[in-house]
Amino acid sequence: MSVQFKNPRAQNNFQGRSCSITGVGSYVPEKILTNADLEKMVETSDEWITSRTGIKERRIAAADEFTSDLATKAAERAMKMAGVTAEQIDLIIVATLTPDMPFPSTACLVQRKIGALRAAAFDMEAACSGFIYALEIGQQFIMSRAYETVLVIGAEKLSSIVNWKDRNTCVLFGDGAGAAILQHRENSQGFLTSVMGADGNKAELLSQPGGGSACPATPESVAKGLHYLRMDGKETFKSAVNAMVSAATEAMRRCEIDITKIKCVIPHQANERIINAVGERLGTTPEQLFVNLHKYGNTSAASVAIALDEAVAAGKVSRGDLILLVVFGAGLTWGAAVIEW
Ligand code: UT7
Repeated sequence: MSVQFKNPRAQNNFQGRSCSITGVGSYVPEKILTNADLEKMVETSDEWITSRTGIKERRIAAADEFTSDLATKAAERAMKMAGVTAEQIDLIIVATLTPDMPFPSTACLVQRKIGALRAAAFDMEAACSGFIYALEIGQQFIMSRAYETVLVIGAEKLSSIVNWKDRNTCVLFGDGAGAAILQHRENSQGFLTSVMGADGNKAELLSQPGGGSACPATPESVAKGLHYLRMDGKETFKSAVNAMVSAATEAMRRCEIDITKIKCVIPHQANERIINAVGERLGTTPEQLFVNLHKYGNTSAASVAIALDEAVAAGKVSRGDLILLVVFGAGLTWGAAVIEW
């Protein structure tokens, strides 16, 4: 479908140069951790987890499988779909809050693993919103003609920062990676618009307090569990619904379209109740709303990246259809993007 816009901010298009996603790919580790498995680890039940979150199982990376390994496998699949070789990649951006190590960046480790030695590489962190933030950064380089081919990856090994004794959080998260190749494609509008936002006043709602410069790892910090992920679930939930609805609404307003023009809405996969509340307020039909969190739980920056790949593989979108991505995460951060597939 070709949409004409009156609002100049509707098109992320600079002097006729648009940016499209020409390939997607994802990878999840083999090991499945079910709700029944979790019942043996903490005081919880399949009934509680399913009714409060919609999650049935999640993937857990092996001890010797790191974020860069998951990212590399997803990247190779996206490159294959786009028909892109490692030598063609100009830039690699990895969105993650669980890098292999503080430095060097996971993007540099991925660069080595895929052999994209011509590419610049860096990580960026916007928690669960990271994939949309990274897509937005990547597309600016394509539109400005600085680069021809950008590899954007959302990848997480959240199992490495989850406190497996805390039932409030350990049932929610999983590991995985998703990737996209960004390029200019003739006769395609690609990204129509993207919206990003943040609210640092609510930084404490969802955080990993230890391990950074504010609280370097010491025997005491480890004993206090400060290197584990922490969340105020209820407050995060409320902020998530409001921020996702307003980001999605703003993205559609800029494009001068309503929800009926969107073929597939791909929301951050944190909680089925959040997804349904967002869908209800946006007026989506069940067919429009893509959900896969029952299989993977919340994979943070990988979440919409994996979901986009699965939606494409399942035939939920065809070339020319409009997709709405909408995310929310720690920071707080949020974002939305409208893309012509
Ligand atoms: O990706 C970033 C964004 N993340 C999110 O958006 C997550 C947002 N938050 C949520 O998804 C939900 O708030 C949760 C799923 C985390 C929690 O659901 P809730 O309906 O807000 O539950 P709650 O926090 O009100 O907890 C209700 C009860 C508590 O017991 P009491 O105090 O009422 O006796 C918890 O201790 O459920 C208890 N509980 C559990 N019970 C069994 C908490 N976790 C569990 C558990 N199994 N795993």
